[in-house]
Order: sequence, then C-alpha cells, then structure tokens
Amino acid sequence: MSNLKFISAEEAAAYINNGDLIGFSGFTAAGCPKEAPTAIAKRAEEFHAQGKEFKIGIYTGASTGDSLDGALARADAILFRTPYQSSPDLRKAINGERAPYFDKHLSELAQELRYGFLPKPKFAIIEVCDITDDGELIPTTGVGISPAITDLADHIIIEWNSYNPKELRGFHDIYQPQDPPYRREIPIYKPSDRIGTPFIKVDPKKIIGVVKTHRPAEVGAFSPNDEVTERIGDNVALFLVQELKAGRIPKEFLPVQSGVGNIANAVLDSLSKNTGIPPFEMYTEVIQDAVIKSIKDGNIKFASGCSLTVSTPVLEEIFANLDFFRDKLVLRPQELSNNPELVRRMGIITINTALEADIFGNVNSTHVLGTKMMNGVGGSGDFTRNAYISIFTTPSTAKGGLISAFVPMVSHADHSEHSVNVVISEHGIADLRGKSPLQRAQTIIEHCVDPEYKSILTEYLSLTKNAHTHQDLENCFAMHLQFARTGDMRNVAWKKR
Ligand code: COA
Repeated sequence: MSNLKFISAEEAAAYINNGDLIGFSGFTAAGCPKEAPTAIAKRAEEFHAQGKEFKIGIYTGASTGDSLDGALARADAILFRTPYQSSPDLRKAINGERAPYFDKHLSELAQELRYGFLPKPKFAIIEVCDITDDGELIPTTGVGISPAITDLADHIIIEWNSYNPKELRGFHDIYQPQDPPYRREIPIYKPSDRIGTPFIKVDPKKIIGVVKTHRPAEVGAFSPNDEVTERIGDNVALFLVQELKAGRIPKEFLPVQSGVGNIANAVLDSLSKNTGIPPFEMYTEVIQDAVIKSIKDGNIKFASGCSLTVSTPVLEEIFANLDFFRDKLVLRPQELSNNPELVRRMGIITINTALEADIFGNVNSTHVLGTKMMNGVGGSGDFTRNAYISIFTTPSTAKGGLISAFVPMVSHADHSEHSVNVVISEHGIADLRGKSPLQRAQTIIEHCVDPEYKSILTEYLSLTKNAHTHQDLENCFAMHLQFARTGDMRNVAWKKR
C-alpha cells in the first residue's frame, strides 16, 4: 500500500486519551496487537506519575497476550474490560476490584456493539499481515470482533506484524450478519463452507497510522498430558464410540467443538487417536496444538475456528506449510465461529471444561469458590446450549484432592442442568440424559466423583426427603465453607435436623 502513514507505537498511543474506548483485534493471544497496547500502558503510567487519571475501556475478541491485558492491568489503566480474559495480572486486577469486568457469551459481543447496547469504540487497533490501498485488511491468526469494531470505530490504528506471512490471505472468511429485522439465515451448512470475503474492508480514511512489528503471538505452551487428563480424554472417546455404535451419532460422525486449555487439548489428542472414531471435522472457537497435529495425521479433516491458538513451534510449522493447510483451515469472526444458529444446524458435539459441577448437573466454568473470576464463560455457553450433545469434562478433584470438583450446589452457575447432557471425569462417564435430578446425582456420584468424596455426597443426598431436587439449603455450600475454613473439603460434617 503506497499512501500509508507509518508511525511509532508511542505516536499511536499519543492519540489515545483518558476515557477512550478501544476495540482490539484478535482472539486469545492470536491476532492481538502488541506494540500499541504496551505503549498505551506506558502512557498511562506517565499520566499516573503526574497525578492524572488515565484509563481506557477495552473490547477484545477474547483473552489476549501479556502485551495487551497484562501491560494495561499492571499500569492500572482499565476503565472496563470485556469479554473473556486469562492474564494472571488482569485476573488479579479484576478480583482486586481495580478493573471492572463484565463477562459475555462471545458470539454476542459484536452484535451488542452494533445494537448500541454497549458504547461504541472510538478506536480500533487491528493486527494485520497485509493491507491494500483500498482498505482491505488481512487479519493474522485471530479474527475476533475485528469486522464490527473497524465498522464502528471513528479511527483505526493498524499494527502490521510481518512475522505473519502475507500468504495468510485466503485463510479467513469474513462476514457480518444483518441486524434484526433484516437478518436472514447464515448460509453455512458444513464447517468448510465459505460465505464471506478473505479480508476485512475498512474506509482507508479512518486509518490514522500503521505501526510495524515482527513478533510471534504470545501463546503459552500447553502442559503435557498427564494420567488424569489422558483418562478424561479416553473416557470422552469411549463415550463417543458408544454413541456411534448405538446409532445416536450418525456413522459419518458430526463436527466437534472443543474448549480452551490443557484439558481440552488432551481430550482432542485422545479423540483423534481413537480408531473407533472416524476422521472428523471441527467447528470450534480456538484451534489448539492438538488439532493441528491431528490434521497432519489425517484424523481431523477440516477445522473452522476463530483463532489459531497454537504454540510458537506449531505456528511456525503452519507458516512453513501454508499450502498443505490452506484447504483444511478457516478463521472466522466469533459471531460466526460461535453462532448458536450454526451450532444447532450442524449438530455440533461440544466438549467444554468445568471448574466445578454439582451433582444435579449444573456447571460452574468461571468462578473459583463462587467469588474469584478465573477466565470467563468464553464460548462455552454459545456451544453448550445449542449442542447436538453437550459434554463437560473435569478432573474429579483440584489441589491434590483438597477440593472436590463435584459439590452439592455450584457456587456460581454458568450452564444449567437443562443444557448439560454428559459429565466426564477421569473416573468415568455420567450420562444425564433422560434422568431426574436424583437419578442424575446418583449417576454422577457413581461414575465421576473421587472415591474419597463418594460417601460424603451420598450422605448429602439423604439429608432431604420428599423433594424433586435433593438440595439442603442449610448444607449446600458446607463443602465450600469447610474448604475456606480448613483448606480441605474432605472433613465436612453435614448439619442434621
Ligand atoms: N476450585 C478451585 N480451583 C479449581 C477448581 C475448583 N473447583 N477446579 C480447578 N481449579 C484450578 C486448578 O487447580 C487449576 O489451578 P492451578 O493452575 O493453580 O493449578 C486451574 O483451576 C485450572 O487449570 P487446569 O486444570 O490446567 O485447566 P484448564 O487449563 O483446562 O482450564 C478452565 C480449565 C475451566 C479454567 C478453562 O477451560 C476455562 O476457562 N473455561 C471457560 C471458558 C470455556 O469453556 N471456553 C471454551 C469455549 S470454546
């Protein structure tokens, strides 16, 4: 592009003032700008040193890299933040009431900005691997909410990251649905369908400058699988093979969505290794390392996602083999990758991770002991509520057995018993479909709960008689309270009447 104005990150940051709202590109650390946000954090620190206020409102696709969320949180520069995040420093700021945070289903953010439910961003800061004279932006490895924020913002700052090859052009499918009452069906019928453009079109007059950089995305490495995560993965595979044999999953199989984090990565590994599961497609949000390995092995045929959230060695491998991956991957805005209409239509098998679940089938994915935000609901609700079969996985205990992942009542509810079909731990599979609350509790205790907690939770069920759901309001949080008091849920004593 010939008429671009190249500026330094500091010059870009100088456009930003206290109280400004900014939409950032990317999804997870993939596709996020790095130089401009760090320079904005530095500007905030300089303002604070002079005793002046400096905070910005932040819209992102999902979590970001340390140069964005980490830097701005450490600089105490956050007016508000939405949606999903996973930065340790931002988490501290959120839980320390220094960064107001509201958590949203990821598919909804772009449309809520367009509807005016949330104030529109003044600036969009977008990472690209290429840009044309007439304003075609080629995103890098994460799309997020970039199409909506570039439309809505008054000004656009580009971060041109040459670490990402220009040949990524063609990997993206950019499309924004019309807003009601004009919205029509979104014409995606299988994961590999493409309905949009390979670029985000912006008004070139809005671009106030381009910051150059050459840096990989700040995606951390995944923890190696361990015995527990492998057993969880094997149980998920076993369940799906049984469903296939019983004819409840069609013989061609169905597209799979898999959540974020180490457990999700391990589950995907087990699925693709299992010879009882035919090669399948993914319609998911984040494409993690295990998906790329399975594409190479031929166990995954195609993956549609919002981001390539892969470790740097895996990213380099993709970049070195773009022609191989070109017809096997597509990256879309989160409004499409997580769209409820599409999840229901294509019959997606969804696999997400719970922090805790209650014995009746409600799931908490976000809050540690009911109060501290972990990451956020992410896309787990977009997928779970509309799934063909919704599965939640969790290790049966946390912190070496001091915490049971299965409790009488979740301390925060993200997914209700009405949406959760199957719960799987390293011990086994609880199929909750067609069961009453009491039957669900018995099934979870029998198949998923750690042996040390089985009698504790069985006794809990006997505290209540003549009820549809055997909750005991005096005792339902006793395990949490016991942990808070003594650091160990195992020594809980039920109050009896
Ligand atoms: N109480 C307190 N802490 C708990 C806990 C509980 N019931 N259960 C787990 N934890 C802790 C673990 O000990 C671990 O902490 P540590 O890192 O200090 O050891 C942490 O929570 C979870 O880490 P890990 O076991 O490695 O899990 P993960 O990387 O697979 O992440 C979630 C699990 C639930 C945090 C993650 O999947 C998530 O944020 N999910 C919500 C969003 C989502 O599902 N998105 C996908 C949609 S596409």
